[in-house]
Amino acid sequence: MSKQRIIAIDGPAASGKSTVAREVAKRMGCIYVDSGSFYRGVTWKMLREGVNTGNPLLVLPALLKSTWTFEVRDRAVVFLIDGEEPGEALRGKEVREAVSDIAAMPAVRTFVVRKLRRLKKLGSLAMEGRDIGSVVFPKTPYKFYLDANPEERAKRRHAELVEKGETEKAQEVLESLQRRDQKDSSRKTAPLKIADGAYVIDTSGHGIEEVTRILMNRIAELEKPRSDKMINPIWYRLTCKVFGICLKVCNQYKIYGIRNVPKTGGVIIASNHASYLDPPAVGASSRKMRMTHFMARDTLFRNPLMGAFLRRVGVIPLDREKGDIKAMKTAIQLLKDGASVALFPEGTRSLDGELQPPKPGIGFLVAKGQAPVVPVYVHGSYAAWSKHSGGLKRLPVSVIFGKLITQEEIRSLGEGRDAYSLIGELIMKRIAELKENFEKGLIHE
Ligand code: DC
Repeated sequence: MSKQRIIAIDGPAASGKSTVAREVAKRMGCIYVDSGSFYRGVTWKMLREGVNTGNPLLVLPALLKSTWTFEVRDRAVVFLIDGEEPGEALRGKEVREAVSDIAAMPAVRTFVVRKLRRLKKLGSLAMEGRDIGSVVFPKTPYKFYLDANPEERAKRRHAELVEKGETEKAQEVLESLQRRDQKDSSRKTAPLKIADGAYVIDTSGHGIEEVTRILMNRIAELEKPRSDKMINPIWYRLTCKVFGICLKVCNQYKIYGIRNVPKTGGVIIASNHASYLDPPAVGASSRKMRMTHFMARDTLFRNPLMGAFLRRVGVIPLDREKGDIKAMKTAIQLLKDGASVALFPEGTRSLDGELQPPKPGIGFLVAKGQAPVVPVYVHGSYAAWSKHSGGLKRLPVSVIFGKLITQEEIRSLGEGRDAYSLIGELIMKRIAELKENFEKGLIHE
């Protein structure tokens, strides 16, 4: 039997996710699930029963009285409510206008999420919606977020409506879509957001075929066999455990956004660097998802005991005198083979704790390694242990993992030397954003 995959495809209305999800389902032998149709189904039923769709106290009892049955037809899930199939009525204007209120009700969401999760027993699923990667199946490695600007989305939705013979004006469609976007992303329960670890694809200006290809390539990338064979897992686990315990005891160390680190596939973990504590903090925290290769001065390998240890935990020796070509080549190969490599784009520790500009080599490595990047901000390590702290202090340290920077975004910066510096700058910009958001208290676990 082939492996079960749950492919989560989220995004705002008319971002192209339905068409892409259907196509991916077809090509990967999955069952397609349109989770939005479940919220539409609830709305349809309430309208039919004459229940006020704005009042959760009336909606829930009516909903609990209904019986839902499921069928798989043409490799897609369809449902009947009390023996009746809503069909095209789900797409009508009445349902469309009321569905956001219904979808914002926590009790309705619990009801629908439970039903969606149960579909797992059918086999591999390609499920599209708003909260599939964040709430319904947060543990799936296959998470995607499709986006496009509102004008482009409204244009697509308008064209669909015209084809169906509806008479709404383009401007009305845009306004209705913006109203729904606003409601979907500002509601308290499971708002529309990019799930941790989701691969974001901007579909503006891209055809279905191209988006499907990007998505399938990403799945193939995630399924490459593990290539961190250079690392001895027992030594690595032990080392991270020791670092983790020390950091917890001495620095009340906390981790945020760990699910942004994909468990498989080539990835670069790029962190700011202000302290000796950064490599152990990044290593011990990212270990929760996977093992990663670090780089260290080759002079550290001269001590036989230290050298043996560093090799066991997969550290790549870096020859500072002769340039970093050999280390770069090793890292690029590891990334291409699907391993994780941790880097400090600023090159060396910051002298004052502030973020520094990136070294030119980072962009080259990211471009050649053809892997996405997880930006990481380590907070508090400078105060806890820097060149000026006078030894280790018991001050708090936090490690914050940010959203994945995709290869498509990296490639959009161009090619060659100019692009390399832009790539480095983009990574440092994302780290700076994490710093700002963390310091403003906007990042929560
Ligand atoms: O994708 P759609 O337009 O058919 O979705 C209908 C509504 O349901 C829309 O307001 C968003 C909401 N929805 C949701 O809240 N969570 C989902 N997983 C899917 C849809």
